[in-house]
This record gives sequence, C-alpha cells and structure tokens, in this order.
Amino acid sequence: MEWKKTYKDKILTADEAILKIKSGDKIVSGHAIAEPTILLNEIVNNKEKFEDIEIAHMVPMQKCDYVNEDMRGHLRHNAIFVGAGTRNAVNDGRADYTPCFFSEVPKLFKNGYMKVDVALIHLSLPDKHGYCSFGASVDYTKPAAEHAKLVIAEINEHMPRTLGDSFIHISEIDYLVDATRPLVELQPPKTTDIEKKIGEYCASLVEDGSTLQLGIGAIPDAALQFLKDKKDLGIHSEMISDGVMNLVKSGVITNKKKLIHKGKMIVNFLMGTKELYDFVDDNPSVEMYSADYTNDPTVIMKNYKMVTINSCLQVDLMGQVVSEMIGHRQISGVGGQVDFVRGSVMAEGGKSIIAMPSTAAGGKVSRIVANLSEGAAVTTSRNDVHYIITEYGIAELKGRTLKQRAKLLIEIAHPDYRENLIKEWEKRFFDKY
Ligand code: COA
Repeated sequence: MEWKKTYKDKILTADEAILKIKSGDKIVSGHAIAEPTILLNEIVNNKEKFEDIEIAHMVPMQKCDYVNEDMRGHLRHNAIFVGAGTRNAVNDGRADYTPCFFSEVPKLFKNGYMKVDVALIHLSLPDKHGYCSFGASVDYTKPAAEHAKLVIAEINEHMPRTLGDSFIHISEIDYLVDATRPLVELQPPKTTDIEKKIGEYCASLVEDGSTLQLGIGAIPDAALQFLKDKKDLGIHSEMISDGVMNLVKSGVITNKKKLIHKGKMIVNFLMGTKELYDFVDDNPSVEMYSADYTNDPTVIMKNYKMVTINSCLQVDLMGQVVSEMIGHRQISGVGGQVDFVRGSVMAEGGKSIIAMPSTAAGGKVSRIVANLSEGAAVTTSRNDVHYIITEYGIAELKGRTLKQRAKLLIEIAHPDYRENLIKEWEKRFFDKY
C-alpha cells in the first residue's frame, strides 16, 4: 500500500492548494455534478492573488462567481458549453465561448489546441489499490487531467465510484483536498401536456431492442415515460439521469440486444438525484468513458437501432437546426448533438430525432421559421437532419427535397404560424400549396 503514504503527503487545505496555481495559467475544471466548487470558490475569494487566469469548462451548475465584473484582469471564463451561470457573461463579453463537438473536446487538450496548465477535478475516495473514480463526470474531465501539468483533486466520499475507463491513480494527482459534502441533485423535470405529446411521438419511433441516447430536459424525460411497454432497450448516451435509471429498475432497459458493450449502459456523465448516484455506485452494468469514445460517431454507429433524442430552439424550412443560439445570443452549446445525430444515422436501422415544442416564449414565436434568426449558428445541418418532432407530429426529412421538407415542417408548425409559412413556401417554390 505504498500509495497510502504519498496520499497523506499530497493532502492540502483548499487555500494551500490554490497557491500552487500561477498567474497566467489555463485551468480546465470539471463540470456539472462534478464541479470542484470548493477549489473554484477559493480561487474566487483570493482573486487578488492571481492575474490573467483562464477557467474553462462545460456545463455550469452553480453560481460561477468567476464571471463577475470584479474578476476582470484576474479570472476569465472560457465556456465550452454555456449554462445559466455563465450565459449573461458570455453574451456580455465578460467570458468567452469555444465552439467544439463534445467528441472532440478531449482532442483540444491532447493536440494542444487548448493548453491545460491545471486540471481541477472532483473524485471519489481511492479504492484499496489507490485509484479514485471520476464518478459523475468522465467526459472531458479525465482527458483534461491526463494532459494537465498540474492536477488538483477534491476528494469526496459522496462521489460514486463509477466503473469503466473512469479511474485515476493517486500517483497521477499532485495535490488532494478533502472536500466531502453531498453532491448537487437535479430533480426530474415536470413535463407539460405539450412535452408529453412530443415524448409520445418520439417513443413511437423507438422499436424494441433499440439503443438510445437522450439529451437532458423535459422532452427526453417525457419520451422515457412513453417507453414503459418497450422491451430490451439499451443505452449508449452522453449523459443519463433518473428517468433512465427508472426504466432499468422496471426491466425495460436491459442492454441485452446491444451489439457493443452488451449488458452495459455506456455514458460519459450523469446528473440526477441521490438515488441515481447510489444506483451507479460500483455498478458493473454502467460504464463511463471519455467523450472521445462515447460520442465518436464511428463508435455510436456500431449500436443496434440507435435512436437519439435531442432538442433545439429553431428550425428553418430547409431543416437547418439551431440548438444553441437565439439570434446572436449564445444559450448553450453543441454538446453531443451532432455527434449523436451523425452516429445514429450511420448505424443500421438508426434514427436521429430533434424534438421541440412548436412555439417558444409563451407561444409568441414559432420555432419553425422561414429563415433562421440573424446571428444564429446552425447546430445540425440540413444534410444531417433526420426526424423533426413537435406536438403536431413527426416530419421525416432525410431523402426529401427542399420543397417536400418545407411542406412537412409546415404541417408540424403551430397552426397560428402556418399561414405565413405557406406564403413563404409558395413564393420560394413557385407553386400553390
Ligand atoms: N425564439 C425565442 N425564444 C426561444 C426560442 C426561439 N426560437 N426557442 C426557445 N426560446 C426560449 C424559451 O421560451 C425558453 O425561455 P424561458 O427560459 O424564458 O422559458 C428558453 O429559450 C429556453 O428554451 P427551451 O426550449 O425551454 O430550452 P431547454 O431547456 O428545453 O433546452 C436546448 C433546449 C436546445 C437549449 C438544449 O436541448 C440544448 O442545449 N441542446 C444542445 C445540446 C445538445 O443537444 N446536447 C445533446 C446531449 S445532452
């Protein structure tokens, strides 16, 4: 047990640990449930000690005080995915955004496109061999640690010991901070009637034995509610939450028909309640890998009847999908959407679904539009798009002409907005609708 001696030598308090970081360093931090918040808060509280530090991460869960105005010159955030805590800062110019498919984020570090001077991570307790698990977040966090010059880890006895390629040995960590506290919990979303209808349409495309990827939020959750009568579903996803666990417990998800990782759910991060964290703890039926594996379309395509369900903000009549911006305003990020859209369509019998309510902003705007809002970047291109679903039905766009797909999309737009879309259709295609 040689590691036990080094373990003790590496333990610092949070205020001691952050002094190992130097001005000018590029920090990559863990995210979502595995945010190393104790270290990040300590850095914020000692901002005067640092100049020109960059803090990069994906999904923010907490307050992210390092984006505040008074951090200027000391700390600056680089978002690889935007969330509530970082959105205003990115759009007000106080933080930066780096577009990147989730599958390629590990390569940013590996190939040196993004420097990683310091990785701040949040891990489980070490096992008897001295390995800590990355727990709720393997995704880009493990690759960041592998490519960092300095690794500082929060060790938390509540972090589940997830299995798969999810471990780091104590010898690979420079400093450890005891950071035991309950993990942040994400309660299952409440689903509206519209979301339920969309969920029902999504579920109607899922055949017994399919392998699923579901994004996060009310629509994927609603889809799960309509899968209760399916048989032998599998999971190969970016993330999972409680809805997936419930279908495992009720015997719907068995992973038996999977062609790769048979009998196992494959994910790279997870967010949910304590019940989910207990469920994945030391559970050999759940394996976690980095995003360059889980989200690699050439891996995803090896699954049987791969069905992916993700959401978006706007779709134009050509089928261009905007999932991360409202006009010029960055709302989230590409995440794994395109990775899974591509992987599922390449899979035999695969389907990719983009599902959204037909309107937004309390019904004031149609999400199906003639032309995308100025400034918005396309997330899923018209060449990649497959199924679009709203509460008004399913539009299968693959193989359809521009004229046909525009008509299919008008049919699933909210009735209040169809008249204008039809006028646009007639003008664009020199035809009577
Ligand atoms: N015009 C104006 N406002 C719009 C809009 C539009 N076209 N579309 C949405 N909005 C508003 C909504 O009304 C809502 O406003 P509110 O917060 O005031 O209620 C807000 O924008 C968020 O929209 P909503 O559709 O409720 O967001 P969501 O939480 O369901 O998330 C995505 C949807 C698309 C942002 C999210 O799925 C995402 O980030 N996707 C990209 C990444 C991805 O797919 N990853 C896959 C694996 S996890």
